[in-house]
Amino acid sequence: MRYQKILSELFIKNRENFTNKMKANTIAILTSNDEMPTNADDLMGFAQNNDLFYLSGIDQEETILVLYPDAYKKENRAILFIRETNDFIKRWEGNKLTKEEATQISGIKNVKWLHEFDATLQLFAFEADGFYLGHNEHAKRVTEKIETQQDRMILWCKEKYPLHEYHRVAKITRDLRQIKSPIEIGLIQKAADIGIEGFHRVLKACKPNIKEYELEAELTYTLIKNGGTRHAFKPIVASGINACSLHYNTNDAICNDGDMILIDFGVCYANYNSDTTRCIPVNGKFTKRQKEVYNAVLHCLKEGAKLLTVGKNHAEYEREMGSLVEDQLKKLGLLTNEDIANQDPDYPAYKKYFMHGTAHHLGLDVHDVGLYSTNLQEGMVFTCEPGIYIEEENIGIRLENDYVITKDGPLNLTEKMPIEIEEIEALMQEI
Ligand code: GLY
Ligand code: MN
Ligand code: MN
Repeated sequence: MRYQKILSELFIKNRENFTNKMKANTIAILTSNDEMPTNADDLMGFAQNNDLFYLSGIDQEETILVLYPDAYKKENRAILFIRETNDFIKRWEGNKLTKEEATQISGIKNVKWLHEFDATLQLFAFEADGFYLGHNEHAKRVTEKIETQQDRMILWCKEKYPLHEYHRVAKITRDLRQIKSPIEIGLIQKAADIGIEGFHRVLKACKPNIKEYELEAELTYTLIKNGGTRHAFKPIVASGINACSLHYNTNDAICNDGDMILIDFGVCYANYNSDTTRCIPVNGKFTKRQKEVYNAVLHCLKEGAKLLTVGKNHAEYEREMGSLVEDQLKKLGLLTNEDIANQDPDYPAYKKYFMHGTAHHLGLDVHDVGLYSTNLQEGMVFTCEPGIYIEEENIGIRLENDYVITKDGPLNLTEKMPIEIEEIEALMQEI
């Protein structure tokens, strides 16, 4: 593994919490993700299924986790099925997990080879009343056109055991995963720290006429050098007008003297993610107007972050951030009281310049699972990312930090990423 060993107690505790929420006499089956092809014999980098990782810590393809807390034999209450390795696989792909290693990572004593899965499950199915199966239930899921390993497991299981009851793994994991343990917060902090180092490299490298992708390369270098797995998502390095396209990520433009650059990036470390945005002037000096817009967004971030408190309702939070941005838009001369008086309440006037949400759960997924109808609780991790996008002025500013909700108020995991104008200008001028 590139990342530091994670204590198996994290996964043992996660399984305990998960099985406590299962209905009596049921079996949960969790599958790893597929390795996705590109062309010919090539594959994209492997990304583990996050629910399987959460409950086992196993970061290897072709893995199945079976949890049967009511199994009458204690050793069958958690079984891990992993890919059986051999000399051929070792020669071509290198070491795969041994059973002992899988036990050490997961804390699961009963590890079997994958080919034993069907027969083992047959024995349990005879005893059990139902199954829990995984499915991607994200509100904006992007897998609709692709049959995943989870989808195939649902088809296979329902065909083989049509008369059992079926339940959703995601209903349990979306509740559990939204509250992060200290170990998980430590891993998100590590991801954030790598991002902070990467941003410092960007500040040093940035100059007029540099290509956006050259700045992306500074981030990539830092994350690989520090044992990060991959970017949390394809970084957005958007100079000038590109910053007004919210998900711009071709990063192929030249950064022009006088423009700002918006950089929205995250690091994936041990499958946990950071998600941060900073905006910097290409030539190292903010113009008067850039300062005004930047400070307006910074004000919203600082004030908005203070509102990330235990008990806060998410929809109310978004409304409060809307009001903060609205005030700043008036000060910037972009909205008038009249615009606001005449606005459509379903699409407030401020949305012309601030058209996205402010806070999302962050963890094993960048837009992590969790119910937005649940009020904020201790241990949740949220981004805060207000923005103002003024196409007609060639400027888009978004600032994004990551916060843990604590009973003493929000804890900023990205505190050390430079954000004040003076600090950014000073760092950009250092040779
Ligand atoms: N870059 C995606 C987000 O900030 O949510
Ligand atoms: Mn982001
Ligand atoms: Mn975000």
